[in-house]
Amino acid sequence: MNIAVVGTGYVGLVTGACFAEMGNTVTCVDVDSKKIEGLKQGKLPIYEPGLDNIVINNYNTGRLLFTTSLPDAMTQADMLFIAVGTPPGEDGSADLKYVLAVAKEIGQNLDRYSIIVDKSTVPVGTADKVAAIIQAELDARGVQIEFDVVSNPEFLKEGAAVDDFMSPDRIVVGTASARAQERMADLYAPFVRNHPRTLFMGVRDAEMTKYAANAMLATKISFMNEIANLCERLGVDVENVRLGIGSDQRIGFHFIYSGCGYGGSCFPKDVKALIQMANKIDFDPKLLNAVEARNNAQKHRLFEKIVESFGTDLTGKTFAVWGLAFKPGTDDMREAPSKVLIERLIQAGAKIKAYDPVAMKVARDEFPAKFFDEGSLALAEGQYEAAIDADALVLVTEWKPFRHPDFKALKRLLAQPIIFDGRNQYDPKQMKRDGFSYVGIGR
Ligand code: UDX
Repeated sequence: MNIAVVGTGYVGLVTGACFAEMGNTVTCVDVDSKKIEGLKQGKLPIYEPGLDNIVINNYNTGRLLFTTSLPDAMTQADMLFIAVGTPPGEDGSADLKYVLAVAKEIGQNLDRYSIIVDKSTVPVGTADKVAAIIQAELDARGVQIEFDVVSNPEFLKEGAAVDDFMSPDRIVVGTASARAQERMADLYAPFVRNHPRTLFMGVRDAEMTKYAANAMLATKISFMNEIANLCERLGVDVENVRLGIGSDQRIGFHFIYSGCGYGGSCFPKDVKALIQMANKIDFDPKLLNAVEARNNAQKHRLFEKIVESFGTDLTGKTFAVWGLAFKPGTDDMREAPSKVLIERLIQAGAKIKAYDPVAMKVARDEFPAKFFDEGSLALAEGQYEAAIDADALVLVTEWKPFRHPDFKALKRLLAQPIIFDGRNQYDPKQMKRDGFSYVGIGR
């Protein structure tokens, strides 16, 4: 099949590369000419395990092409995926300006039956808007061309996006058109050959499915964080509670890890957007509001715990921070709990020595330059370098090398043997045996 994917961000690039890997010809389109030139030279704008090989190999075989021109891409392709950003607007609702601009350009250039696929996460009703814009452009041109707009949300986890795309749990396709359904089924058939799991539904149902999936996962996390905060006050270890409830198959073990809050480009943005969708139709989303409020508060828990031990004035204190990315396996720091923690510690007078296995470069841009200039924030060469003479170690992101560190070395290096464990990675009993003062979440 001949496909165009508009937007070479996280979703677009993974989608384009994986379709090409399955033998399709894919043109990736982006308005950012620097990005496109970089991609042609094998330089990826994001870090995602396995993606660089797929991009480079398929580019070299000619199945994956890069251009800044959507009309050029449309001369070949008749399946047009919209995978541009939908950043939160001022009120938290998804800003559709990029999606709708692409729709307009498609309408200006459409010359034969095509399927337009909304891949970006977009509010319920967006496919109808996209269709209306394309139709308006066709009317303005005085041409009659058939097209279908399909909703096909992605469910990719950063750090595992290629695997998730290649072996999906399910593929959701929202369309009322039999013709579009058949083409979409055909396109995805190789991904689900041994275990068909493509779900067809209405276009609005598919749009809502994406938000409901992320909101459900965010709810599980906020629920566990609430329980953890209760456990702390009641003398309970939330890690035992997690095992005790996860073994009930109706609850399950996934996404019930308490910690210092969820971050990333999806959960915070999508929960906010769903709340805005509800507000716009005068529906009070009590539960979603609580999920968001719990998470916003949870991002401050580590700071609060540090203040409980060290007092509110942290002048003269230095903290080692392990992990800056919002989760392991990515260099993404969007909405990362590390940012809230580090900003609050610095405001309280502390100095920070931070280390992350891959997000160091990104971190330079994520914090105000003055933090670095004033010496409030330093990026350490390695995890143990960060610990040298620090008054405490704070674990924020549970990268594998942090999970079983050399505690003897840590004890030697730290000025005080204190560990704040924002991801409950260490055993409190062992910490005590090894002579550390240990503070986890919910235990
Ligand atoms: C998520 C969804 O999983 C994916 O299906 C969707 O398409 C995009 O959003 P991602 O943002 O990559 O993917 O992150 P995910 O792995 O789901 O983790 C989100 C956040 O939740 C992280 O900050 C993580 O640390 C946190 N988390 C996760 C917890 O605090 N506890 C848990 O039990 C699980």
